[in-house]
Amino acid sequence: MKIIVVEDKKQGGQTAYEFFKNELAKKNDAVFGLATGSTPVTTYEAIVRSNLDFSSSISVNLDEYVGLSASHPQSYNYYMQQNLFQYKPFHHSYLPDGEATDETKEVSRYNLIIKKNPIDLQLLGIGRNGHIGFNEPGTDFALKTHKVKLTESTIAANSRFFDNEQDVPRYAYSMGIGSILRSKKIILEAFGESKAEAVKNMIEGPVTRQCPASVLQQHSDVTVILDEAAAQKLR
Ligand code: F6R
Repeated sequence: MKIIVVEDKKQGGQTAYEFFKNELAKKNDAVFGLATGSTPVTTYEAIVRSNLDFSSSISVNLDEYVGLSASHPQSYNYYMQQNLFQYKPFHHSYLPDGEATDETKEVSRYNLIIKKNPIDLQLLGIGRNGHIGFNEPGTDFALKTHKVKLTESTIAANSRFFDNEQDVPRYAYSMGIGSILRSKKIILEAFGESKAEAVKNMIEGPVTRQCPASVLQQHSDVTVILDEAAAQKLR
């Protein structure tokens, strides 16, 4: 793993942006794996400020809450429209369908999308419990797309985006670790002290299902972008 420590999340976003720029320069029809949440916001801001053109590229998002429509303000679909797609449309953008009621069908549909569009550059955040995507501690590393029951800690962490904790969906569709590991290049961003423990476990701990992000140690092209607060527990 390559580790880059930056001053703040704005610089972190700028650093991640460079990866997008380089990928596009190599291949204008590149496939980008995208994340939501607070972490990638500065990356999307840097992309939006730029003149990068994604109109020949594909995006495939990591996850979506089960039960939320694409127009629900807390859905990841809505987040992507607001933060990126309205300014930088892609040739095609894929997200899991939060309203899909047939779990088996939705999982196969999404796995086929990932198979047909192998990810060139995957952007990741990390949960305080070490999750990537919504692959919570204990998740089998071989899994592809699956329906996940969110842990109490993830529900509590994500409740900040909702009026109250009761409104946070209990399930999500998530790309599995097996699919994430197939991405050619991965960048993971983490900002703030609340991520320091998970970052330490990911980089210096054993590869264990208890910290899903630790599996990234087994991938040959991972860059971790941290601010000093998130890097503070590293040796
Ligand atoms: C979001 C995702 C999650 C987040 C993680 C960190 O698509 O897959 O794994 O990256 O929960 O969330 P934030 O950035 O809000 O701290």
